[in-house]
Amino acid sequence: MPTIHIPVLLKETIEVLIEGTGKTFIDCTVGTGGHALELLAQTPESVDLIGLDKDEESLKMAKERLQAFEKRIKLLKGGYENLKEILASIPHGPIAGFLFDLGMSSYQLDEPQRGFSFRNDGPLDMRFDVSQKLTAEELINSATQEQLLTLFKRLGEEKWSRRLSRVIVERRDKKHFHSTVELSDFIRRNIPRRAAHKTLARVFQALRISVNNELENLKSGLSQAFELLNIDGRIAVISYHSLEDRIAKNFFRGLKKQDLLVVINPRCARPSKSERMKNRRSRSARLRVIRKTADVTEEVMEKVMENLETILEADEENGD
Ligand SMILES: C[S@@+](CC[C@H](N)C(=O)[O-])C[C@H]1O[C@@H](n2cnc3c(N)ncnc32)[C@H](O)[C@@H]1O
Repeated sequence: MPTIHIPVLLKETIEVLIEGTGKTFIDCTVGTGGHALELLAQTPESVDLIGLDKDEESLKMAKERLQAFEKRIKLLKGGYENLKEILASIPHGPIAGFLFDLGMSSYQLDEPQRGFSFRNDGPLDMRFDVSQKLTAEELINSATQEQLLTLFKRLGEEKWSRRLSRVIVERRDKKHFHSTVELSDFIRRNIPRRAAHKTLARVFQALRISVNNELENLKSGLSQAFELLNIDGRIAVISYHSLEDRIAKNFFRGLKKQDLLVVINPRCARPSKSERMKNRRSRSARLRVIRKTADVTEEVMEKVMENLETILEADEENGD
């Protein structure tokens, strides 16, 4: 039985998202359909939903789960970094809201064959879209020591990055890494035992982000979503680590400075204690929601994105 993903910050997200003005909601990361189900249940028949995901297996599960709303949904395989192209190819109403629930689902994490978890033995894969060429195996066995160092430092914020990048390259030049447990056992042997769990989580996170180009895709997805959104429509972003949250926070700040949006929850919503106890994977979640107040020109969006890059680079240099 595949693990059922428990949607995070469900009530908090849906109650603000459905206030968006328009007719169509876009769930950019529909996964197994948890948030989508609640959104459809809480909106009138006249409202429809387009659900995107890169993962075909998740889409199959979402289709089954959302069967009762069959007439109101379209589920498509695709990446939110291609929102404009995807939405140009299908009929839809004015867009009332976009949801980005980032990262991976519990279903993906717990499926050993997907290679996301350092606990379950499986191939070093980590692709959301299994038709993509680059896998974690290819990355770890072909990146230079310098590239691995940057990756572990920047995307994992890992303090053992220097040592790990060196020993990984020494070992893989003799014998390639093929499986998740092969890599995690090797890492365990090369760092103090007390650091193992957190380091493994960070190294696996860094590899996943890199394999799926997650940070660049998020910037691109958010800017396209804002351009496509109806006035008074909403964007909700649920992030699970500081790199993602920093992008959402600073992107919205840039548009706010131009008077193009209102931030609905300036302090961002966090899961309650009871949600954290029931669903450990919700622990690090943060929800940010905005309401669009004016359209953006291409020129202004370019400026906002340039400023965003400058802020993110400065944060990185300051180690924030
Ligand atoms: C946390 S899960 C979403 C769970 C969903 N909200 C639910 O309630 O079932 C994140 C999903 O985003 C998908 N994903 C990751 N990057 C994506 C991208 N660039 N475009 C579309 N989907 C993506 C993953 O495959 C995964 O299914």
